[in-house]
Amino acid sequence: MAHHAHPSAPAHGHSTHTHTHGSDATPNGLPEILDLDAALFAPHLTALTGRIACLAGDDVQHIVDLGSGTGTGTFALLERFPTARVTAVDSSPAMLERLASAARDRRLGDRVRTLEADAGAGLPGVVDADLVWAAASLHHLDDPATALAGIRAALRPGGLLAVAEVDGMPKFLPEDGDAGELEARCREALGGLHAERLPHRGADWGSLLAAAGLPVEQERAERWELRTPLPEGAGRYAYLVFERIRGTLEGRIGAGDLAALDRLIGGGPEDVRHRDDLVVRSTRETWMARRPT
Ligand SMILES: C[S@@+](CC[C@H](N)C(=O)[O-])C[C@H]1O[C@@H](n2cnc3c(N)ncnc32)[C@H](O)[C@@H]1O
Repeated sequence: MAHHAHPSAPAHGHSTHTHTHGSDATPNGLPEILDLDAALFAPHLTALTGRIACLAGDDVQHIVDLGSGTGTGTFALLERFPTARVTAVDSSPAMLERLASAARDRRLGDRVRTLEADAGAGLPGVVDADLVWAAASLHHLDDPATALAGIRAALRPGGLLAVAEVDGMPKFLPEDGDAGELEARCREALGGLHAERLPHRGADWGSLLAAAGLPVEQERAERWELRTPLPEGAGRYAYLVFERIRGTLEGRIGAGDLAALDRLIGGGPEDVRHRDDLVVRSTRETWMARRPT
């Protein structure tokens, strides 16, 4: 099958692809959530790309952003590696269009190529990558072993794979109160749902990488946290996350919890956009693995 990929224009890989885990099958709001996450946690992301640079070296020219979403990794890595270009791979044309448009706005269009493909089935036409970045995306893929074999084939010998996974949507509310307990119950309900829909979430990626011939050189879990004074956008981020949680859990949690969620996004005194007690926090786990030379 021919794969048409253009700088800053969405390309079409598997045109018959009907993957249901992609963002197109989920409610709206995710692209803005991803962009806000990137903006709010920019300093954390800079530290993470610095760690990648220590392992990957200076001469990184070709980067693959696997499950790129709106381009959090793409843009952070283009900044970190000023002469590199990125192939952004995603199964969602809407995500790739947004990424391509952001690349043009930032005058980075000539350094970004988008590729619409099911990354679980391999990376068509992608070879000799110095670095593959896969953030919050591997758990979406149907068969991790096939996906990792595709990543290994796309990397040059000695090339680096950086995997990041998050423990779900961030938390926002104080733990020691009714609101925190509600948030914990929602996360438990979401956990049950994800176990059905995304069976590879929370997988033992270290072992899977090693089994795929990508030995892990560094593994780390970090708590990313933002406290008052919160950066601009934190309330909006919390609002979008709770709106999404409410939509997902409707019919799966009790009426009382649903009403409490409504109050968090209803514009009244409990609304997360007005509260001064938010702490934005999540745990990010990373694995750095290398294709042997
Ligand atoms: C949670 S988002 C993460 C986006 C981005 N990596 C980030 O860190 O912000 C997961 C992304 O993986 C993409 N995705 C899901 N299944 C995919 C597949 N089979 N092949 C390629 N991309 C996929 C989704 O469309 C979505 O953009």
